[in-house]
Amino acid sequence: KKIAILASGNGSNFEVIRQKIVDGELQAEIVLVFSDQPSAFVLERAKQHQLPYATFSPKEFASKAAYEQRLLELLVECEVDMLILAGYLRILGSDVIQAFPNKIINIHPSLLPEYPGLRSIERAYQDGQQVTGVTIHYVDEGLDTGPIIRQASLTIDPSESLAQLEERVHQLEHQLYPEALQQLLNKELN
Ligand code: GRF
Repeated sequence: KKIAILASGNGSNFEVIRQKIVDGELQAEIVLVFSDQPSAFVLERAKQHQLPYATFSPKEFASKAAYEQRLLELLVECEVDMLILAGYLRILGSDVIQAFPNKIINIHPSLLPEYPGLRSIERAYQDGQQVTGVTIHYVDEGLDTGPIIRQASLTIDPSESLAQLEERVHQLEHQLYPEALQQLLNKELN
């Protein structure tokens, strides 16, 4: 399967997915790394690994629809089968979603439907939750609302700092995302 990674920031999830592919544990080919943030570190990672990447920002376009149209063209040009969102901090428009039915996956650092949107780990921590986790889900037109594929939870230790919790949630993400993707890819191959 040809996959595109969409990311707005650091790209640590992209990095683990890439590594699993290199290790032969994930049967996929990264045909595009796209960022809506031209200065995102994920692009440096893509360059270092000599993977195809592209970036443009909605600010460069007259409308969100025009931005999405260009993105869609790019995805079609690259013959993408599946879109993997890894810290892509925008809501995808309906044209892109309809072009890839059941082929767009996102990761979110909470047990959805709890804590959708930004700063999910921080909000769960500040609310004094005892449990949080990670969700892998299909993307629809809402904010972190599509059908859930997999979840994993962890217990919040009341004595840990927010930074420690964030680190543990990210580690859980790095474990769960490649596993969930492998499961999905296997299902499609059978
Ligand atoms: C992750 O916590 C992901 O769940 C959220 O954004 C973060 C991206 O991290 N949507 P990275 O860019 O993969 O390091």
